[in-house]
Amino acid sequence: MDRSVAVKLDEMDPLKKYKKLFYIDDESVCYLDGNSLGRLPNKTVLDLNNLLINEWGKHIVGGWADWIDEAERVGDLIGRSALGAAPGQTLAIDTNTINLYQLAWAAIKSNPNRKKILTDRANFPSDRYAMEGIAKELGMELVYIENEDTSLSEGEIITPDLLSKYLDSDVAIVTLQIIQYRSGGLNNYAEIESMVIKNGALMLWDCSHALGSVNLQFDQNQIGLAVGCTYKYGNSGPGAPGWLYVSSELQSKLDVPIRGWFGVKNQFEMGPVFEKSESIRGFQISTPSILGLRSVKSGFEMIEEATMDLIQEKCLKGTDFMISLFDEWLIPLGFSLTTPRERNKRCGHIIITHPDGAQIAVALRKMKKVFPDYREPNGIRFSFSALPTSFTEIYDGFYRLKELVESGDYKKISLTSSSVT
Ligand SMILES: Cc1ncc(COP(=O)(O)O)c(C=O)c1O
Repeated sequence: MDRSVAVKLDEMDPLKKYKKLFYIDDESVCYLDGNSLGRLPNKTVLDLNNLLINEWGKHIVGGWADWIDEAERVGDLIGRSALGAAPGQTLAIDTNTINLYQLAWAAIKSNPNRKKILTDRANFPSDRYAMEGIAKELGMELVYIENEDTSLSEGEIITPDLLSKYLDSDVAIVTLQIIQYRSGGLNNYAEIESMVIKNGALMLWDCSHALGSVNLQFDQNQIGLAVGCTYKYGNSGPGAPGWLYVSSELQSKLDVPIRGWFGVKNQFEMGPVFEKSESIRGFQISTPSILGLRSVKSGFEMIEEATMDLIQEKCLKGTDFMISLFDEWLIPLGFSLTTPRERNKRCGHIIITHPDGAQIAVALRKMKKVFPDYREPNGIRFSFSALPTSFTEIYDGFYRLKELVESGDYKKISLTSSSVT
């Protein structure tokens, strides 16, 4: 395939203006790891500087008059721009894992006669560990859907058929990812949510790899509970606050395990007991990081302007293009594709495997300025973040990968250098 194909795709891209709005230190880098950490928007630098000088610096503690509701305001922005959720259902706060724990505990306690937590074997480690801890503490049985074996599941996807083998009348909560973090497989979340609710359980989604790539439409799909992070396709920065979503319908029905002063009805009454707010604020524990929230705000304002319709379509075109290059250049070099090929089963990232995957992934960064990441066993993960990435970046990155493996140069790289993959 000729590079002019990628150039043409970039020319026709309705989102092409956004790449220029990011800080790019080295134009020769092919950054295909935006589902791990997004790039820095130029506006974030200005917004944070403005916050430091004109808000914190100027108003000191007086700033809290405005900052006190910032987790709700930024939550609403995430809801509006990326979740398809009406206001008052999303909070930008804490981290994925803390939010997952908070909501899983709340959901389980609301259904005290049921004793099973259902999740999948290929789920993200934090999610499995958090459920392990809750199961131990609350005397629940943790059941794993077996989706790591390719004879049971294509690309780790939880089909309604597979799920129905595990859903019984003792399941209190099911927790899954919308996009599988490793394979990039997209679960049919609307159908799964409806199956779980019909079974009398609650569904809790981890949207880490879906937020900012999949046009989620939570209200339309009647999603009940979800969490996610903002530092991937949200381009909100390393360790930026995560978010939680509780539908209006569920908010007053759920209690919370960690009771903090931000979650009460009248925070500054400093009352003797915890009286949970009936709004989404009832799920907030603590003082939010205003610095972090400001960078989430500038990331998601860009998503709102660009629209999730166009972003999802560009993500799909990006992974279509990666798969075409994989077919032409990488199959002959011994690579396999783990991500499903169908458009309705993937979105913003793919994973390819090779017996020397770990060494190739490190060599790509060190020798070729191409940034994927590596996931055990043997998987090299490439993502296409719609706003800061171009099609030529994919073309060049895959071309350099082909050269690296054809030449065998990656074998010169040692694997001992970094604990982060
Ligand atoms: C799918 C998924 N879930 C959970 C996490 C954990 O997020 P955190 O470190 O914000 O708790 C990550 C982190 O990358 C993730 O990719």
